[in-house]
Amino acid sequence: MNPALETLLLAFSGSDPLPVPDRALFIGAEPHPDFATWPGLTGWQPIKHRAEGWDKAGLTRVDDLPEGRWPVVLVLPGKSRDEVLASFAMARARLEPGGTLVAAMPNTIGAGRFEKNLAKATGSIRSIQKNKCRAFYATEDGSWDETLFAEWYELTLSHQIPGTDYTTRAGIFSSEHIDPGSKMLVDHLPGNLSGRVADLGGGWGFLSAEALRRSPKIKELDLFESDARALDCARLNLTGDARVSYHWHDVVNGLPGSYDVILMNPPFHTGHATRIDLGKAFIKTAAASLRRGGVLYLVANRQLPYEAVLEEGGLTFRRVAEDKTYKLIIAEKRG
Ligand SMILES: C[S@@+](CC[C@H](N)C(=O)[O-])C[C@H]1O[C@@H](n2cnc3c(N)ncnc32)[C@H](O)[C@@H]1O
Repeated sequence: MNPALETLLLAFSGSDPLPVPDRALFIGAEPHPDFATWPGLTGWQPIKHRAEGWDKAGLTRVDDLPEGRWPVVLVLPGKSRDEVLASFAMARARLEPGGTLVAAMPNTIGAGRFEKNLAKATGSIRSIQKNKCRAFYATEDGSWDETLFAEWYELTLSHQIPGTDYTTRAGIFSSEHIDPGSKMLVDHLPGNLSGRVADLGGGWGFLSAEALRRSPKIKELDLFESDARALDCARLNLTGDARVSYHWHDVVNGLPGSYDVILMNPPFHTGHATRIDLGKAFIKTAAASLRRGGVLYLVANRQLPYEAVLEEGGLTFRRVAEDKTYKLIIAEKRG
């Protein structure tokens, strides 16, 4: 169970608890057994596997953050400053007059600092510290600093990466710049890719866009991405190219088709912990989904031990480029 969610729910159970509301919106929704007694709870969760967890618990979910007003809005925000402040603004915009905004997050991402940010906008705030997390909540009383919320609302809007036509938004991978690892990969992409291509963890579409631009013979490209917000940006960045299909999909679960070419810069950071397993799972999925003779283009931080997984997957590979941070591997399925 997410310790931030455990802490958030203490606001509704400890001494002087908030009443469980008739209706509530949950931004960044994650399931909890306590929600069985919440009558009108609607969740929004852009990350695929978390959304599936919410659905499995039998709770009500919406794909797009709904418009409307709720007496209580719960928030489990992401990690980056802009994403947290944007989620406060999204919550505020959906709060009924006199409604309560309840947020929680781990101390490691700066919960104390974000509590101060929210307190600056709301005046008074109540706070609970437990499970190495902080929950804090404020009830709208007509005195909130709407100018500050309006400033944070700007962070919810998509924007362009300076010097490019690429659109991104706060909270998604590489939202302010092109990732240098991905740049290394496209610098080594040939112009003769063809057939069916998959982009695993395609983000806002950089690898796909550059591959499609260089290789007119690509027939179809499937972009698989678990973050619905990134996928929405990819739709804007690749708009008008009929070869592309977009999949809100957890790559760990394998792919529905097989491919001539697979591109990827696999994820390996979850919060502040390095999660090598996710990258390994991406490689296993790629190995299982390449056709015979198919080629994988993989960029990764150079210290990550992915070579053994490539071998186990029956791929022959060579390291074609590296710098002090990244390595670029091209692997082929021979068998
Ligand atoms: C290192 S980023 C690369 C993004 C993009 N390809 C680029 O080059 O800018 C990895 C991407 O994988 C996505 N991701 C993480 N876990 C995933 C999963 N289980 N299934 C699909 N995508 C995932 C992340 O949201 C992120 O967009």
